[in-house]
Parts: sequence; C-alpha cells; structure tokens
Amino acid sequence: MSQRQTTTAGAPVPTNETSKTAGPRGPVLLEDYQLIEKLAHQNRERIPERTVHAKGWGLQGTFTVTNDITKYTRAKIFSEVGKKTEVLSRWSTVAGEAGAADAERDVRGFSLKFYTEEGNWDMVGNNTPVFFVRDAYKFPDFIRTQKRHPKTNLRSPEAMFDFWAGQPESVHQVTILMSDRGIPQNPTHMNGYGSHTFSMWNHEGTRYWVKFHFKTHQGHDYYTNEKAKELIGQTRESYQEDLWNMIEAGKHPKWTLKIQVMEEEQAASLDFNPFDVTKVWPHKDFPLIEVGELEMHTVPENYFQLVENAAYSPSNVVPGIGFSPDKMLQARVWSYADAHRYRLGTHYEALPANAPKAASVAHYHKDGAMRFFQNDTGNSNAYYEPNQYEDAPRPDPSVMEPPLKIDPEAYRYPQETEEVDFVQPRALYKDVLTDDERVRLHQNMAGAMAPCSDSVKERWYAVLERVHPDYAKGVREAVESAPALPVTDDTPVKAAE
Ligand code: HEM
Repeated sequence: MSQRQTTTAGAPVPTNETSKTAGPRGPVLLEDYQLIEKLAHQNRERIPERTVHAKGWGLQGTFTVTNDITKYTRAKIFSEVGKKTEVLSRWSTVAGEAGAADAERDVRGFSLKFYTEEGNWDMVGNNTPVFFVRDAYKFPDFIRTQKRHPKTNLRSPEAMFDFWAGQPESVHQVTILMSDRGIPQNPTHMNGYGSHTFSMWNHEGTRYWVKFHFKTHQGHDYYTNEKAKELIGQTRESYQEDLWNMIEAGKHPKWTLKIQVMEEEQAASLDFNPFDVTKVWPHKDFPLIEVGELEMHTVPENYFQLVENAAYSPSNVVPGIGFSPDKMLQARVWSYADAHRYRLGTHYEALPANAPKAASVAHYHKDGAMRFFQNDTGNSNAYYEPNQYEDAPRPDPSVMEPPLKIDPEAYRYPQETEEVDFVQPRALYKDVLTDDERVRLHQNMAGAMAPCSDSVKERWYAVLERVHPDYAKGVREAVESAPALPVTDDTPVKAAE
C-alpha cells in the first residue's frame, strides 16, 4: 500500500478531491478542517524576499584542504591537508526581485556556509573583489538607486548614475560591472571574493589580515548584452537550468580557495587603506596562497528549505577567523542577523539550512516563536548561567580572539574622494583590460547610461576622466554614436533599463 496522506497533525485523510458541503450544491461546512488547512497553508507559502539578493541559486558541496595554512589560523576547518567540510552555496543577483531573469547585468552574490566542527563559518561575498561604497551609511541609498523608482515603479538608470557620479569611489566597481564580468554565463563561470579584509589568528594569538578568493575552474565565460537579451527572451531561468543540467550530468563545478595575507603592522605603512572595500590588494605585494578546493555536487532536495531559508551572515565566524576595522564589514556583521530575524524568525539558526552539522549547539537563549528544538544545554536545570551544574555549558577562554588595536577617537570622518581612489580603476582600465574588452566596456556603459539626463552624463564623464581620459572619451563616443532614444522629456526617470 502506498503511504497514507495525512493532515499536518498526522491523521489520515479520507479524500483529497472535494470539500465537505451540506449538499451536492453547497454550502461548505465550517468543520471542513482539511479545506481550511489547505487554504491557510497556501496563504502562508511566501515569506518576505531578501531586501537585496532576492534571486538566487544554490548547491550543496564539499570543501577540501589542499595546503597547510595553520601558521596563519587555528580554524579547525583548515587544521590538516585532506580535511573535508560540508558547504551550502547560494549565488544571487543583487537588484532583481525573486522572479528576476538570471542573465541580467548585475553583481553576483557568492555565499558559502561551511559547517565546521567549531560552528558555521559564512563567507557572504560577491563575484567582485571590491564594492561600490566604503561606508555602510551609504548602503541603503545605493540600494535604493538599484531598485524601483517610487512613482514610475521602474528601474532608473538616472538614479544609478546620479548616485555613482556623486560617489566617485564607486567607479572601480562600476567598471567591473560594465565589463565582460557583468554577465557571467552562470555562477560556475565566476570567481567568488570575500571582498572585505578579514583576519585570521593562529594558536600563538598572532593576527593576520586576510582576503579570500575563490577561483573558478570553469573559466570566466560571459554573455554580451545582445546575447543576454536574446537568452532572456527564451528563458528567464538560465542559471537554474544550467546548474540543474550540470549536476544531473555528473559535472561538479569547482573553485580553488586562495588567500592573500598581510601582517598586522603592515596595514599602517601602505599607500592605500587596506580596510577600504573599494580597494584590492596588489597581488605582487600580497601573492595568492592556495588553501583548498571547493566542489559543488548536489542539488538540494528542497529549494525552499535549504536555499530560501539559508541565512548567511558575516557575523558567523569561527575561532581563528575574525573581522577587521573595515566599517562596511562591521555594519554587515549585525545587519544580516537583523534581516534574518525579520525574514525567517527568531530561531532561524535552528532551521536545517542553518543549524550547525559538525558542531554541537549549547546556548542559553530561551523561548519564542517556533522554538521547535529541545533545551540546548543538555541539562534542563541549567537554563541560566552561572549555575552549579558541572555538565552545564561553559565559555571556553582558549578561543578568545587576540585584542584588536583601535583608534580611540570616535568621529564622523569625512569621505572625500581622493586621487588614491582612481589609481586601481586606472590600472584595471589601462593595464588589465585588453583593447577589445575596453571597447565592450565603453559600449556596455553607454547602453546603461543612455537614458540618463545630460547633466548626469556629464557628471559621470567627469568621474571617468579622473580615471583616464580615454575612458571618458570612449564612453562619451559610444553614447553619442548610439541611436537616439524614443523618450526625450526632462523627467528625472526617462526610461526603464
Ligand atoms: C554595509 C553594507 C551592506 C549591508 C547593510 C548589506 C545588507 C544585506 C542584507 C540585509 C541582505 C539580505 C539578507 C537576507 O535577508 O537574507 C544582504 C544580502 C547579501 N549581501 Fe549584503 N549588505 C552590504 C554589503 C554587501 C557586500 C559588500 C557584499 C559582498 C562583498 C554583500 C553580499 C551579500 C550577499 C551575497 C547577500 C545574499 C546572501 C544570500 O545568498 O542569502 N553585501 N545584504
């Protein structure tokens, strides 16, 4: 006999065909609990989508250590070569809603949850090594320009370029976004970066500043604007389809984790701020050190349970990995958990996607909505601390992070854009991109800013001029040679992207 269908309370149901009515023509009886349960559940199938990075794709996989970095970190995940740790990934676009098309030009999120034996370590990064702004204070404004205009309810290139022109430090990230890397063919064709500077500390209590890089084995294949437009006309779900087909065919995408390491004192003597997320660390000064291999091999059995419910947070670090003075990172450390409590509820860390797998959980937080797990201390008398019980959980002073040296003055420091903010975008534009790539960059940017007002265009050309005169000239020429747009009025939002 096949499995019996039941109510949520486990009672077998006699039929799944009809509601219970007073006669064949109705009305429905209030006692039709099955019907009420069915409709009530449907009404509750959606939860708020992520305020950013709402559209995502996820796989499960394994991380394997291939090189010994124990001199930098005591983190158990890296304790020996060959050690394996389970991982849950979620890749995403930033601006689009949960139903947005996959192949849109946007930064991609690159989130990894490592279920380590000393708790979960989350790497909540992007496919770019830098970010648009360096102060969290600017983040809500920035995101607002990426989302819909309050009146037109359309995406607004005018708002995007207006903001970027007023925030010239963004030009590094905008250059990457408008380059070929702006539309990867799918998440397996992109690198992942922690972007911020993090820290590692070893058993001796020595701290190092660290950047994380996940280098794709699949190559940086990308779509041009034209190809992406054509593809979106055929399917909006190209990434999900690619990932599904790849795993079904037994092809497992891989990345190599590498780190850049800086000694703690070195940070003071550089000609740029190493804690500024709009900057990369030059590879010649801070060479990449191999750490391990990430292989993603499984499509989660239930997308909602594992991928929609995944709650990544930069606050999830483990002994041996820490933060840095980067003020964006510090804001993110508390912002994500706040977002998760709103989106998923108080006990989001106990959901299967987020519950540690390799570590035991023993905290003194107590009740609240959806407390569906047992007492966590293992002793029902030990529901407070300090207490008299020998088997009760106790803090472990051996995992105390080394002290962080900080500047004692609290102040709202001015955020002037300086020449140093243009040095790295200039090197990217002139020394890294090829001639062809520069041409596509000019055209992609011209396409994105074509609907903007002349004043916004001029302000943005002035930013590009500070990077390199050829950059401003190339984009200006590409804008001016593009066919005229049908919308010509002076409203702040001229056309949808
Ligand atoms: C201070 C600046 C930032 C703030 C306040 C912020 C805030 C948020 C919030 C509230 C979410 C939604 C979380 C959720 O509901 O699950 C989110 C998602 C995300 N953010 Fe940020 N963010 C910031 C900067 C960044 C940066 C610099 C990166 C990358 C380097 C980044 C990468 C991501 C990723 C990958 C996700 C999606 C996580 C997932 O897959 O579930 N964010 N961010």
